[in-house]
Amino acid sequence: MSQFGTSIYHDRVNYFLDHYEEGKIGSYLTVKGAEITNRLQRECAEKFPTPIPLLFGDDVIHGLRTTLPTPLAQSCSWDPAAAERGAAVAAKEAYVAGIKWTFSPMVDIARDPRWGRIVEGYGEDPYLCSRFAEATVRGYQGKEIGEKYHVLACMKHFIAYGGCVGGRDYNEVDMSLQTLYDTYLPSFQAGIDAGAATVMAAFNTVNGVPCSGSRYLLTELLREQMGFDGFVVSDCDSIRELEAHGYAEDQKDAVYKAFHAGINMNMTGDRYSDHIPQLIQEGKLTEQDVDNAVLPILTLKVLLGLFEEPYVDETEAEKVFLCDEHLTACREIGRDCIVLLENNGILPLAENKKVALIGPLADEKRHVLGPWCCLPDPDKTVTVLEGMRNAGLDVTYAKGCDLNESSDEELRTAVCAAQNSDVAVVVLGQHFNMSGEAKSRANLTLPDAQLQLLDTILATGKPVVLLISDGRPTVVESFRDRVAALAYIWQLGTMTGDAVADVLTGKCDANGRLTVSVPRSVGQVPIHYNHPNTGRPHLGLVWYETGYTDEDATPRYPFGYGLSYSSFALSELTLSTDTIPVNGSLTVTCRVTNTGARAGKTVAQLYIRDLVGSCVRPVKELKGFKKVVLEPGASCTVSFELPADALAFHNEKLERVVEPGKFRLWVGQHAHDETLCGEFTVTE
Ligand code: NOJ
Repeated sequence: MSQFGTSIYHDRVNYFLDHYEEGKIGSYLTVKGAEITNRLQRECAEKFPTPIPLLFGDDVIHGLRTTLPTPLAQSCSWDPAAAERGAAVAAKEAYVAGIKWTFSPMVDIARDPRWGRIVEGYGEDPYLCSRFAEATVRGYQGKEIGEKYHVLACMKHFIAYGGCVGGRDYNEVDMSLQTLYDTYLPSFQAGIDAGAATVMAAFNTVNGVPCSGSRYLLTELLREQMGFDGFVVSDCDSIRELEAHGYAEDQKDAVYKAFHAGINMNMTGDRYSDHIPQLIQEGKLTEQDVDNAVLPILTLKVLLGLFEEPYVDETEAEKVFLCDEHLTACREIGRDCIVLLENNGILPLAENKKVALIGPLADEKRHVLGPWCCLPDPDKTVTVLEGMRNAGLDVTYAKGCDLNESSDEELRTAVCAAQNSDVAVVVLGQHFNMSGEAKSRANLTLPDAQLQLLDTILATGKPVVLLISDGRPTVVESFRDRVAALAYIWQLGTMTGDAVADVLTGKCDANGRLTVSVPRSVGQVPIHYNHPNTGRPHLGLVWYETGYTDEDATPRYPFGYGLSYSSFALSELTLSTDTIPVNGSLTVTCRVTNTGARAGKTVAQLYIRDLVGSCVRPVKELKGFKKVVLEPGASCTVSFELPADALAFHNEKLERVVEPGKFRLWVGQHAHDETLCGEFTVTE
């Protein structure tokens, strides 16, 4: 991989040469580039008469050279087709770099923004996450495994990693099996149904048992009940950690437990090759067990075509990396991820406005690529400043402060820039390395230095458009009603600046919608719209209701929320029937009208509630969504197919049931929008 000038190139080759001959390496993590992967494949072909080609895997989480928006950002597009397109871009760049296996998508449900890995997933809702899971699996793998420019997907982390207590990464998960089945499994099931080739076992325990050593989770549930037939890889060191958990006596015992649980491949280290031979000698495992574990890995190597052609064309990367097609995809996906939360009419920016662009993240190339980037080229990244200038805006830039430190001089320059402009666009947020793995946080506000900057700019009296670039939903209570406009721009990757400028100038409608509820304060978390009811629901009427004495119980912005530059009305709700049998289906339709003066996009969202159940049911559950694009004054009909089967849940005995009874449904533009409401009954 000399084209990337890596000094670890020789270490990698030497490590390989030492271990491959002893049969200890079958796949390789973090080696990228056609030259090095070809070289290692060649070593392998030359050493053995019947060589087994290597499988190179990597964290191509949201792009390789072209960095796409983070998965959390992508989910806010409410457009699974966009995620499929992004995954295909990532797959192609990985493929030409010799990587045929990506450790993505992360389809863990995340309901706690303290958890840094919320940035890697598709938000809090099982239905929405499922649609993104299947779309990304398709994008990575193509129509069938082995298709050129496509790679194996790896759904992770099985299971319930996002449910870690306190939002602390790697922490225990203690949850009912009903919640596990109804909330955390569906996205994995959707990915399995879409053909996901591999699954990664999680670090955490579920109800006391580490996932990486649980035969119940990895074999009985994942394979026997859910029908997964690819291979399971451990997480990095998650087998070794079985000892630290207090679940294995020593490393040999850890290997035995992980292997017996159903982990086909150990990620990192030699534990499997070190201990499995002895476990066979002791009669704890048989050679047949090992053959059975290896078979799905070999099968996928065959399907990938690695036995026929293990090499990749070394001239392709240059043409594929950061090509126009990929940059265009990145920009188009990115602009649909931006969620506009407040707007007094200042956006889109009127032409000829003088803009002061302020903030430590306004001209930051690495930050906007997010916490996971694979082989990025920060030099090719378009910052917000560059994007605004590319769009022809009259911009004066001032940093204002460092990420965590104020400077009087920088503050003065920023104030001066604001005073000499018509509008201040301020870009703030937690730095990229404050979210992601092991980046749990107990505070969800902006750093003090940035809050001070914002207050100072607000004090100039100039209207402030605040853009928050972050990997998690930031708490905005102290300033959201003082700014003229507020948007989450997340981390949009290589084309961030152009995507942001497209929305600021109104070239494109603001059309992202939240996929996580935004808390008013950290004390509210975990907070999500689809919680079960209580006997004392929060109605805001009496004291003895579920809630807080010092804080509202509702989120600041609900799931599904986001503003457009236009306005939309939903009307004419129709149900094809008001009664369906448990094996029947219902069609729900409504009219969406663009009532504003601009073309725009909105998302019609279908929610249901099972009014009486043998287990208390969530107050709302998303069951469908449609993104529509409408010219001013235009309208269209959207329809949703709602099979009774989609109403199923797991009862007290963990049986999957569709219970007869009354259901309420709503079609709205966010989870709290109850404008259109209907009811239907499910009969035996
Ligand atoms: C640990 C992370 O949990 C996992 O998501 C990632 O794929 C591996 N490390 C490999 O980097």
